[in-house]
Amino acid sequence: MSEYHDPYDRSGQFLDIMIAGWWEHHATTVADALRELPADAGPVVDAGAGGGLGTRLIARTLPAAHVLAIEPSLPLRSVLLSRVAEDPDLRPRVTVDGDDLLSARLPDRIGGLVAANLIGHFSPYERDRLWEDLATRLAPGAFVLLNLPEPVEPEHVGRTRMSELRIGERSYTGWAGAEPAGTEQVSWHMTYEVHEGDRLISRDEVSYAWWTVSEKALRAEAAPHGLLVVPHGPAAAGLFKVLREEK
Ligand SMILES: C[S@@+](CC[C@H](N)C(=O)[O-])C[C@H]1O[C@@H](n2cnc3c(N)ncnc32)[C@H](O)[C@@H]1O
Repeated sequence: MSEYHDPYDRSGQFLDIMIAGWWEHHATTVADALRELPADAGPVVDAGAGGGLGTRLIARTLPAAHVLAIEPSLPLRSVLLSRVAEDPDLRPRVTVDGDDLLSARLPDRIGGLVAANLIGHFSPYERDRLWEDLATRLAPGAFVLLNLPEPVEPEHVGRTRMSELRIGERSYTGWAGAEPAGTEQVSWHMTYEVHEGDRLISRDEVSYAWWTVSEKALRAEAAPHGLLVVPHGPAAAGLFKVLREEK
């Protein structure tokens, strides 16, 4: 793998448990889209799979599918690999790859690609490369399923508690807020705290850059590659299918 700076090197330990709420909330909507993918059309790619909550949903929703889960972050890939290894249904059907998506060797034909909570890690230039590449690999009827998280334009996002859960004697709390950074990015500032009763066990402060993408921008950048953008499910989910235009 080429040099990869991991924005999750500290927060990766907390991401899987804290993003579980998103998956609980949107699993049905995501699964509805997955069931529209063509059968036997190549592996379904879970791009930036994180700890594999989406990978598991893909595999469970499509029991005959092979899944290629791509995850460059070491802490997150460790969670992913264990989740796959422990599940006798997933183990023979899910391949885990540690490249970043732009340098990963994708199969010539893919039966779909899920990019959940991922798109903001790619600059406009990188997304252009991605659309160019994926347009040639998507099997007929296959699509990219992605979400456009808020904010879709650079703006201030007040600090809020995004997740709190209790495991054993300890509580795990994640806080998030963002500031505009230039014309197309925000800087997310995250705090992860672990408490046992009143005692603070640890606090990790993490900041990372996120490229904002609106539906309009997504349509404009997909079109030159012959790709259409179609909203999927309730607008609040921010989910879209990106698929090849029928000729
Ligand atoms: C917010 S997490 C979402 C994880 C997972 N998709 C989910 O929804 O549970 C973003 C993920 O994208 C991964 N990622 C970031 N840059 C990437 C890249 N260039 N190629 C592939 N994955 C990337 C991160 O390592 C992280 O796992």
